[in-house]
Amino acid sequence: MTLYKQVFENNKKWVNEKTAANKDYFTNLAKEQHPEFLYIGCSDSRVTAEDMMGVEPGQVFIHRNVANLVVNTDLNVMSVINYAVRHLKVKHIIVCGHYNCGGVKAAMTPMDMGILNPWLRNIRDVYRLHKTELNAIADENARYNRLVELNVQEQCINIIKTAAVQQSYIANKYPAVHGWVFDIAHGKLIDLNINFDEALKDIQSIYNLTGK
Ligand code: CO
Repeated sequence: MTLYKQVFENNKKWVNEKTAANKDYFTNLAKEQHPEFLYIGCSDSRVTAEDMMGVEPGQVFIHRNVANLVVNTDLNVMSVINYAVRHLKVKHIIVCGHYNCGGVKAAMTPMDMGILNPWLRNIRDVYRLHKTELNAIADENARYNRLVELNVQEQCINIIKTAAVQQSYIANKYPAVHGWVFDIAHGKLIDLNINFDEALKDIQSIYNLTGK
């Protein structure tokens, strides 16, 4: 059987397993969603949010793109954030990068990547912001890993710059924004422990959109 056909067999098996454990599983799933998390991650096929977080359908609202970027003019990611914060009222927003990220690697490569140039430019901008720290790392792989982490940190800051997050946080004390890295080679999730309150205060000294 081809992998393509196998997918539908897998689906049947999954439906049977879920309904055997709870006959109303899909009926309940169809009713509504109340995810506690918004997860913004890389499109990389090896980084599967629900699997590594051990959560079920309905628990995480997900957006993925190349190198988990949060770009101010990207209507797609901005719509996702707005909907998740204002309507779903998520309590946590996570940006999850990963080591061995092809997007970050490409941004460290001195080459014309065609249509990817403007996208990857956002990562080169992260490099430029942190070039003193990054250029001081002699080992290329360690520098690459550090850029993955700094890219996550900068995308968290981009989320904190949004009106939706700033206004909701003043009104509700949520969502908090977290930066994670998935260490593919070990399967481990690493929390970068970004100090959200401090980052929010710092960002609002320039990007305050709360009217206060
Ligand atoms: Co990636």
